[in-house]
Amino acid sequence: MRKPSLINTALWAVVVTATAACSDSSQDAAPQAVADANTASMAAPAAPVLPTDIPEGMGALPSEVPVPADNPQTAEKVELGKKLYFEPALSKSGNFSCNSCHNLGTAGVDNQQFSIGHQWQRGGRNAPTVFNSAFWSAQFWDGRAPQLEDQAKGPPLNPVEMASMSAETVVSRLTEAGYGPLFETVFGKDSLNYDNMAKAIAAFERTLITPDAPFDLYVQGRGEISEAAKRGMKKVADIGCTSCHSGPLFTNNTFQNFAYGTDDGVKSVSGKDEDDHLFRVQSWRNVAMTAPYFHDGSVKTLDEAVRIMAKAQLGSDLSDADTADIVEFLKTLTGKAPEVSFPVLPRPAGHALNWAD
Ligand code: HEC
Ligand code: HEC
Repeated sequence: MRKPSLINTALWAVVVTATAACSDSSQDAAPQAVADANTASMAAPAAPVLPTDIPEGMGALPSEVPVPADNPQTAEKVELGKKLYFEPALSKSGNFSCNSCHNLGTAGVDNQQFSIGHQWQRGGRNAPTVFNSAFWSAQFWDGRAPQLEDQAKGPPLNPVEMASMSAETVVSRLTEAGYGPLFETVFGKDSLNYDNMAKAIAAFERTLITPDAPFDLYVQGRGEISEAAKRGMKKVADIGCTSCHSGPLFTNNTFQNFAYGTDDGVKSVSGKDEDDHLFRVQSWRNVAMTAPYFHDGSVKTLDEAVRIMAKAQLGSDLSDADTADIVEFLKTLTGKAPEVSFPVLPRPAGHALNWAD
């Protein structure tokens, strides 16, 4: 096992500073008198009053993600990863990028039961969000990819997703498009290869975290949530949802039995009977924005997903009032989506890349 190291705090400082710089510019225009008045009234800020009703284990989203030692974050790598994330040349048809199914404008999902891939095909599982995926113990509903680096090598070659023929075809496409020099800047000479493509995409994904959900602000004494949400918060702890959906990520990152649907879950990878219907406990972070629900995307509303979970995992029939309160609580876990500007992608001058059906 590789030991994950923590991301360099300086990098996050860069991200934070960049955001702050944007909001500051509007204040530059404010008359000096107003600015002075603000400074005066803010001279002695009251210490935030922290709530005392937070159930054990719950907390604000961590601001640092685990980073594997062999793929450190750098600003150039993240930028290259962003281009590759939006790069339709990874797909045979030239039409699908990672963003087609994990749209960063819509909570990192496509809100479809099954995503549309190559030649209008649909797979058999719902696309989970890429937001906060850097925090999961393993990727996919069945955990078959240990890390984001392993995961990113899958979709370009998956026949119902991007359907490229081989790692070599993807690399030659990227070379023809003009990625060589960009890889060289990040990884050194002659470094345009499939592994490095995956590393760059993973580095970009590690920036897709969603802090400052209403719940986070509440925990930190920086905001309020509704009374209904507070009742829901207490309820999920009292009835035991948080035995699986625990901690600040609202998942204990383990694989648990979910006796629902026809998908074998982890067993489909391991072949072992004891892994039948095991799925990774899905995080509640941003869950209100990622409908439809469950690995098979079979449930359209959060209300119904909550009722099904209570019945399947805890054997309890929730009342309408309790269900509504829990849904209100889950809505407070929608964080601030990262602002991502659409990248300019390299293309050869004077001729088109070869696409194929
Ligand atoms: C055609 C739609 C489609 C495309 C294109 C696609 N994905 Fe996915 N993605 C999915 C589906 C469906 C799953 C769930 C599959 C499963 O669990 O078996 C998934 C799972 C993931 C996960 C795991 C998340 C989790 O919570 O376990 C990550 C991360 C991810 N994709 C990133 C990417 C990246 C990066 C690309 C581009 C290289 C990409 N995807 C391209 C549909 C797509
Ligand atoms: C024994 C562990 C366990 C318990 C207890 C549990 N869950 Fe889950 N939860 C899971 C697993 C595993 C999944 C992934 C299910 C799948 O494969 O579709 C999940 C998924 C969900 C989802 C869907 C997430 C998505 O993105 O599709 C919601 C909503 C949810 N749980 C809410 C709850 C609520 C509310 C409770 C308490 C009433 C609860 N869970 C109790 C294990 C658990």
